[in-house]
Amino acid sequence: MLDTSFETTVPLQDIPETAVVQAGLPVYSAKQRKEKIDRIKFLLQKENAVLIAHYYTHETLQRIAEETGGYVSDSLEMARFGSRHNATTLIVAGVRFMGETAKILNPEKRVLMPTLQATCSLDIGCPAKEFSAFCDLHPEHEVVVYANTSAEVKARADWVVTSSIALKVVSHLMDQDKKILWAPDRHLGRYIEKVTGADMISWQGACVVHEEFKARALGDLIAKHPDAGILVHPESPEAVIEAADVVGSTTALIRAAQELPHRSFIVATDNRIFYKMKKAAPDKVFIEAPTAGEGATCKSCAHCPWMAMNGLHNLEAVLESGENEIHVAEEIRNKAYRSTHRMLDFVAN
Ligand code: 13P
Ligand code: SF4
Repeated sequence: MLDTSFETTVPLQDIPETAVVQAGLPVYSAKQRKEKIDRIKFLLQKENAVLIAHYYTHETLQRIAEETGGYVSDSLEMARFGSRHNATTLIVAGVRFMGETAKILNPEKRVLMPTLQATCSLDIGCPAKEFSAFCDLHPEHEVVVYANTSAEVKARADWVVTSSIALKVVSHLMDQDKKILWAPDRHLGRYIEKVTGADMISWQGACVVHEEFKARALGDLIAKHPDAGILVHPESPEAVIEAADVVGSTTALIRAAQELPHRSFIVATDNRIFYKMKKAAPDKVFIEAPTAGEGATCKSCAHCPWMAMNGLHNLEAVLESGENEIHVAEEIRNKAYRSTHRMLDFVAN
């Protein structure tokens, strides 16, 4: 397991809620923040709940998860942790597909999210009905979908994968001479195709955060920092991926930051990951890959607008009220369980 044990000297309540400010959500004084954090910690115990947060959520939430026996990780490990933990309530701080995945795998547990509005552009861009029609056109293909999809899309799939095991699963299917129908991220699909040589057709979705990384501006930045390592999430455009020293899941990028000899890194993924990168490699320097440059719109500026919707106020509220529970219709859940649990079995074997 990745070792990110490191003590920061900044008290938890003194960290500014930058993401919360960006999302137009309440801002608290240090005293109010401390009260909220204490209350959240108390409620987690009282409700026999565990907090599972993604690396892209605000540092304060990541730290509460760490300090209360919860977990901060990538989408695969969030799913695995939720399945093996004995809490009766899972609080998933991330985006909706992460909460749904937790419910698909753990129907007996209550799954709550700070907000049900936090979605993902890949999920939005792959509606179940259209996707199912696309699959019907290609009945001879094995349907492999990214975890960043709805429960209905997972129910239509043969396999669910995350970025951390997509290459391995596709290579495994290639060994069985399978043709692949991939959805929804076109950049990750292109990357998988290139690395594995798989025979693939792909849905053409994209992540609004990663698609904004600009290859030409990255080239300029590399020229200024010629010794920096380049870490890229595979949802990024092909030309950005080509510049990378390491392409991988969020966990793989944090591990690379720790293990590679470089003293500095240019990082093409959501900038909230810097909290864990700095923990993993406190002496190293992390630089955001550029989202500005030719063709820039900076809709997201290297931070997922939906991940940013998770804050102290709605984490506390959901623990107080028990609202924002994830429900998945049993028929859909059963089908989605098969394709999703397959991923966990594959990792275990
Ligand atoms: P990881 O599974 O690598 O954490 O990726 C999830 C995600 O949404 C990246 O944008
Ligand atoms: Fe979806 Fe992109 Fe946000 Fe990840 S960063 S949750 S892929 S929109």
